[in-house]
Amino acid sequence: MEVRLQKFLAEAGIASRRKAEELILAGKVKVNGVTVTELGTKIDDKKDEVLYNGKRVTLSEKHVYIMLNKPSGFVTTVKDQFNRPTVMDLIKGVKERVVPVGRLDYDTSGLLLLTNDGELTYKLTHPSKKVEKTYIAKLFGRPDDKNIQEFRRGIMIDTGMTQPAKLEILEDLGKYCVCKITITEGKNRQVRKMCDAIKHPVATLQRVGTGEIELGDLKKGAYRYLTEKEIKYLKSL
Ligand code: URA
Repeated sequence: MEVRLQKFLAEAGIASRRKAEELILAGKVKVNGVTVTELGTKIDDKKDEVLYNGKRVTLSEKHVYIMLNKPSGFVTTVKDQFNRPTVMDLIKGVKERVVPVGRLDYDTSGLLLLTNDGELTYKLTHPSKKVEKTYIAKLFGRPDDKNIQEFRRGIMIDTGMTQPAKLEILEDLGKYCVCKITITEGKNRQVRKMCDAIKHPVATLQRVGTGEIELGDLKKGAYRYLTEKEIKYLKSL
């Protein structure tokens, strides 16, 4: 079947479709011995030989979907340029070539999905998809009603105005407040920047939900395979 090269790379679990485009533009992909840097290039997934970094790329037969409870102190990448521990170190038992769906900061903990289903990664990380991501954040001080309204309208951060978000106070600990924060985008350090903007910076941050998928009582550093119901839900988004 004829398929676009970036889609093929994504389906093979090499990277998300967007990242695959970058790999193509960077000249890391060869088709039948020739480096291809054209994004529109179509290949025959049965006949053509695709090499990424010199290795043959084939479609994985089985898609796997994993939820990891990422501890802070791990980088969300397949290989870190500074040799810091990565989330891949925590899923050593998984033989399929899964990649993280989106990113959690080095100091953020919680729910991180990983899969070799490039199409799903593409869908879930696409800005148009507005999937709710829920966080439990310990913030310095106590946001007031005006701050909650600001979140509701969207907050100006370095990259522009955010989409409307939710901020709910769960517990007042005096110096800190435990809050539930819900956003629908995945801009770089978005929750931290939004909280900086209302002058209640983040002390700790944990993601507890992606849409209807919940972290639940999965232990820090542990992972589990998603249930059929969870997979079906994610594919329906
Ligand atoms: N927002 C952040 O600031 N950090 C994360 O890791 C996720 C969302």
